[in-house]
Amino acid sequence: MQTFNWGIIGPGSIAHTFAQALLKCKQAKLYAVASRSHERGQAFAAVYGVSTIYADYAALMADPQVDIIYIATPHSHHFHLAKQCLMAGKHLLLEKPLTINTQQTACLIALAEHHQVLFQEALWSRFMPAFATLKAWIAEDKIGAIQYIQSDIGFDFSQREGHRLNELTLAGGALLDLGVYSISLSQFLLAQNPLSIQAQANLAENGIDNTTLVNMQYPTGQYSQFSCSIIAQCSNSMRIVGQRGQIVLPRFFWVGEHIQLWREGEQIEVLNFEHQQNGFEYQIVESMRCVEAGLVCSPLMSHGDSLAVMQTMDKIRQQLGLHYPADIEAL
Ligand SMILES: NC(=O)c1ccc[n+]([C@@H]2O[C@H](COP(=O)([O-])OP(=O)(O)OC[C@H]3O[C@@H](n4cnc5c(N)ncnc54)[C@H](OP(=O)(O)O)[C@@H]3O)[C@@H](O)[C@H]2O)c1
Repeated sequence: MQTFNWGIIGPGSIAHTFAQALLKCKQAKLYAVASRSHERGQAFAAVYGVSTIYADYAALMADPQVDIIYIATPHSHHFHLAKQCLMAGKHLLLEKPLTINTQQTACLIALAEHHQVLFQEALWSRFMPAFATLKAWIAEDKIGAIQYIQSDIGFDFSQREGHRLNELTLAGGALLDLGVYSISLSQFLLAQNPLSIQAQANLAENGIDNTTLVNMQYPTGQYSQFSCSIIAQCSNSMRIVGQRGQIVLPRFFWVGEHIQLWREGEQIEVLNFEHQQNGFEYQIVESMRCVEAGLVCSPLMSHGDSLAVMQTMDKIRQQLGLHYPADIEAL
């Protein structure tokens, strides 16, 4: 069995969750970490037993021992770092949203294809058993034809001054960070992309979207309606409403731990999914499977899917007048 040396760029909050899962994956070794601060890199390495620490992201990319890189920096820094990784011929698992705009995502896809390396969006829910089961329930006609999907995602970050979600220069706001789940999971469940979109938002003084509401209509007539917010404690649930019933994903729908089947106000079936680790393991295992199989992307979340999600977010941003600084929008 092949083993893979992983390198992590940006050991912030989510990198810890990722590392905890990676340590439990048989084929994976957490080999290197790169931080802008040597102390932060050392502290992270000490917790997870990482042998190689870089105080420079480029040095990690240049290390021939590194097989797969995971980038967990703010959105603003995804594109340029990902571009460097792919140009260095490294396989890459890149946190969601892949980039700020469609053009940047298209550029990275072209680079991955050119260098024949994995380039995978780390939209972790897409790799989870709960969502595979949910799709099977829909295929088994448990709720009849889907009419619409409703979801709501958000937390109150308003008191967290300096947090990346409150900063325009770090591509903060609700849509790119949280709305991306509703868009991507609607795409997964309906197996299509929206034809028409209506969006409204409350923009903060600095221009980020505090709260965004969106209606999307799909080519076969279904709707997906979602709200996302960084200034509200939302229900964080999703409902898939069909002709004969509903599937409900309660609080933290994107974490894929519970799915419920409801008909005529009664709960008919409940499935609880206990993650082997914390839910990040599925995307890690799938990434290594794809590298072994010589794939540039997983069929569970293809490049076409990632690109279409970015296109949807571009259209929403256009309607909202949500603009980021030119340097982070640039190719
Ligand atoms: N899948 C999920 O459930 C999930 C959850 C949360 C976040 N995410 C994604 O993960 C990414 C990181 O989110 P996070 O919450 O972990 O962020 P975070 O705690 O702020 O950490 C980001 C890290 O990026 C590095 N970085 C590089 N340039 C930076 C800059 N100019 N400003 C701030 N940090 C910079 C920093 O590491 P060094 O300075 O040490 O290099 C920092 O620790 C985002 O893309 C987000 O969408 C995913």
